[in-house]
Amino acid sequence: MIKGTYPLERFEKLRTPFYYYDIPLLQKTLETVRAALQDRPSWQMHYAVKANANPEILRLIAAAGMGADCVSGGEILSALDAGFPASTIVYAGVGKADWEIALGLERGIQRFNVESEAELEVIAAKAKEMGKTAPVSLRVNPDIGAHTHAGITTGLAENKFGIFHGQLEPVIRKALQLESIQFCGLHFHIGSQILDMSDFAALCNRINDLCVDLHRKGLPVGDINVGGGLGIEYGHPNHLPIADFDAYFGTFKRMLPAGMTVHFELGRSIVAPCGTLISRVLYVKDGLSRKFAILDAGMNDLVRPAMYHALHRIENLSSDGEELPYDVVGPICESSDVFGKDIVLNECHRGDYIAIRSAGAYGESMASTYNGRQLPSSIFSDL
Ligand code: LLP
Repeated sequence: MIKGTYPLERFEKLRTPFYYYDIPLLQKTLETVRAALQDRPSWQMHYAVKANANPEILRLIAAAGMGADCVSGGEILSALDAGFPASTIVYAGVGKADWEIALGLERGIQRFNVESEAELEVIAAKAKEMGKTAPVSLRVNPDIGAHTHAGITTGLAENKFGIFHGQLEPVIRKALQLESIQFCGLHFHIGSQILDMSDFAALCNRINDLCVDLHRKGLPVGDINVGGGLGIEYGHPNHLPIADFDAYFGTFKRMLPAGMTVHFELGRSIVAPCGTLISRVLYVKDGLSRKFAILDAGMNDLVRPAMYHALHRIENLSSDGEELPYDVVGPICESSDVFGKDIVLNECHRGDYIAIRSAGAYGESMASTYNGRQLPSSIFSDL
């Protein structure tokens, strides 16, 4: 959203901080994804609920016809509540608890993305006990690095996720033997906030090589889930408010066989741009060598800068004054409670509204009550 277009008079009635969601931008994004997949009717998008599980956001995404990618029993319940049909829900996670496996079986989710042989055995036993057949894909660790923050790559051999690609064959054979398991395919996810399409091209190469190898061994491959990971422009949110879905899907269209059934699990690229964390300046403090703008939002409301040194564009919505550098910080008792250092803002005064942009993904969903604070609330733009 452009600076002048935030409804500040509406904000006056609310206690800050809160998340403000630009619903037309979300709708436009959902429509862009739908249009990009139009020529591949068998390809399916499962929105990654972990990015943002706000009930209203989930409801809009479910209404747009996407499936859901969940990582816990809690997310499965939230997805069902929001209207995602169980038959569109896929469930990944290295540590699925027994009750979560039972929930997935009972509700009839589309797929368990299984991350180890040990987990496969537990799911098989639980399904047998419940008189069900569990639809399973095996999550493969493809050992592919992604050009992103080290804390959010997942596809390297050293990461805890999936079954190392060289160890896959015996696990597929086991899945085929187990009576209560229906082997359906392979699942991958190489990391998040990926802007370099050559990372996804490397994933496609790995998938194609694996398919050839399994085929040669007389083993089925089933369908392919390529995970999520498409990044967004954090530095210039108004320049590219919608992620480059054409480049992303184009890579898979170009590199995977036309007849392959492909599943996607995008989170960030769908919801990040539409969310802004709205906060107010509590105090402006002159430090020895720098000015601090102390906000009423902290790392408990948006942890990404503290956790990954993530950069979010910050704007003063209330002032057109002189541009000055500030360290923009929160009220939490941690030195890492910093949204940005040396951030150029229009001159700040107590009470000014500050927008922390592109916060729709991994913002509200990662908020906590640390330091006895309330969880941030949320409001939505008019349609
Ligand atoms: N599928 C799987 C199996 C995943 O682990 C993830 C994200 C996704 C899909 C969705 O990825 P996306 O399209 O959103 O990149 N909290 C971090 C991001 C952690 C991502 C975890 N997995 C952050 O704030 O940057």
